[in-house]
Amino acid sequence: MTSRIALVTGGTGGIGTAICRRLAQMGHRVATNYRDLARAQNWQMEQKEAGFDFCIVPGDVSAPETAAAMVAAVEKALGPVDILINNAGITHDTTFHKMSALQWQEVVNTNLNSCYNVTRAVIEGMRKRQWGRIIQISSINGQKGQYGQANYAAAKAGMHGFTISLAQESAKLGITVNTVSPGYVGTDMVMAVPEEVRAKIVAQIPVGRLGRPDEIAYAVSFLAAEEAAWITGANLAINGGHYMGW
Ligand code: CAA
Repeated sequence: MTSRIALVTGGTGGIGTAICRRLAQMGHRVATNYRDLARAQNWQMEQKEAGFDFCIVPGDVSAPETAAAMVAAVEKALGPVDILINNAGITHDTTFHKMSALQWQEVVNTNLNSCYNVTRAVIEGMRKRQWGRIIQISSINGQKGQYGQANYAAAKAGMHGFTISLAQESAKLGITVNTVSPGYVGTDMVMAVPEEVRAKIVAQIPVGRLGRPDEIAYAVSFLAAEEAAWITGANLAINGGHYMGW
């Protein structure tokens, strides 16, 4: 198989780590970004002990300049980015009538504007080389909305609007653009939801449990594969049956 260069934003998180590992297992060279060097070095060491060699570069995806510098650092270390996974994301959950402008802006900048910031820095190269895979990690809550997540759901829904537009512009150039919308996965982000609220959410999942990061990474590897060249503009919902809209 062809070994390619992949950038997974937010790769040190729960779902991000599983995606980095899965892409590495496919034979790709994988980079991710960090904002906290000591934490990232720890993560990199743990991954090395588990047999994975990941490149880490500094970079905040929420601003165009820092995202461009991050992509430049990956390209310097490994070469041009062929596979981009826009995975970095945060929550500031609160009901809308209590939401500050900062809570809105930080979530939209990190989860949605990052898609512009990072993708803009890789798209020219992909267009020239006539090959690319761009995958947005959105959320079930971008599809169905969620009490306390007006900022997050707006950003996550916006990610798929971005996908289906860029997919049309890139289709003839060998670049596919897709979205994966995970449901509730057992990561730190979901475990931060108060326990009684979380228990009510899990009770709504037909499969009867939280998802595993691997189960999301599997979908990402499917869309990133050479064989997935005819899948573009799709949204793969992976949520244990929690939301079955189409
Ligand atoms: N529908 C209707 N009413 C709801 C509700 C819902 N889904 N959730 C809460 N309420 C009601 C409560 O019953 C309560 O009503 P009463 O005052 O009449 O008792 C009222 O709203 C206030 O609820 P809380 O006590 O929970 O209010 P709070 O201000 O302490 O917390 C909250 C609000 C921060 C939104 C909290 O409910 C919460 O964290 N909810 C979970 C949000 C969530 O799902 N986040 C996902 C994070 S993980 C993630 O984002 C990853 C991913 O992609 C899936």
